[in-house]
Amino acid sequence: MKPERVAIVGGGICGLGVGWKLARAGVEVVLFESGRAVRESSWAAAGMLASHMELRPEEEHITFLGRRSMRRWPAFLAELEADADLAVEYRDEGTLYVALDRDALEHLRFLRKHQEETGLPVEWLTGSEAREREPFLSRRVAGALYASGDHRVEPRALCQALVRAFRAAGGELREESLVEEILLADGAVRGVRCGGDPWEADAVVVAAGAWSGLLRGLPEEVVPPVRPVKGQMLAVRMDDPPLLTRSVWAADGTRFAYLVPFSSGRLLVGATVEERGYDREVTAGALLDLLRVAFDALPGIYELPVEETWAGLRPASSDNAPILGPTPVPGLHMATGHYRNGVLFAPLTAEDVA
Ligand code: GLY
Repeated sequence: MKPERVAIVGGGICGLGVGWKLARAGVEVVLFESGRAVRESSWAAAGMLASHMELRPEEEHITFLGRRSMRRWPAFLAELEADADLAVEYRDEGTLYVALDRDALEHLRFLRKHQEETGLPVEWLTGSEAREREPFLSRRVAGALYASGDHRVEPRALCQALVRAFRAAGGELREESLVEEILLADGAVRGVRCGGDPWEADAVVVAAGAWSGLLRGLPEEVVPPVRPVKGQMLAVRMDDPPLLTRSVWAADGTRFAYLVPFSSGRLLVGATVEERGYDREVTAGALLDLLRVAFDALPGIYELPVEETWAGLRPASSDNAPILGPTPVPGLHMATGHYRNGVLFAPLTAEDVA
């Protein structure tokens, strides 16, 4: 049954995506955001659509879903750009995963074997072949894995487009509006309480990222098992011609960083993976670690001006897979737990949850 009034809790990429699709279908949607929309993990994202490179042998369930969402990206983006009247940069050059020492090379060989067994198209490159594709890579690069199926999207333009498309479709965005409680009656959802006032709804979608498990009023059995996993990042500004055109992941035996370039000249360098609760401090040590690996892979980064540093909180679920769809409580739906792949999963989340 199509709901008439829906409340969405959380104004990130996922909440806005679901809200946009519902509003487009003629549903009355109010989105409640405790702060400003798209300023948490969505704003912190690198925008990688890395369904191939993110494949881990222990996470095949996520890869399958990720590839499904990946296939929807071009059509999703075309519709979003049209509704938002805003262009969002989308790049399809693939991901180059470079090994900086022998340990990392062995790890890449293991990944390659697993990816090939899973049927993912990956290509093995020697160090010089990698440098032919990205000439500013260091001579330390001993070999690389190239996944042409990985793409990327400029994350902050995506955020802005979702806000605009949601509003253009008739959705109401209430910022600085903390939901104090999910309201239930007779075991079913009846709406939310915000600012002391109830707002009645036929359905409520929980899309509050790393805060999804803290909402009051949820019966214990449907509280989503989501925790924050901190990621620190920075952005540097490249000259023209750019130092890098593809996304590059770089690792040695103990450290890892990814570098994600956009045509504006902004080059993102990320990200730590830290279990520190809701702490969002940017630390010198984390930046040092990221920049060391980035410099070892791409020495020219040394000269580039630092534009921004930040930390975001990934909403991690207990098995790293997103938590999507209806719960046993009638009218209560989840769109949370996207962990490292919120941008990749945006089309699947928006379309299937809506
Ligand atoms: N998807 C990249 C990250 O979470 O750091």
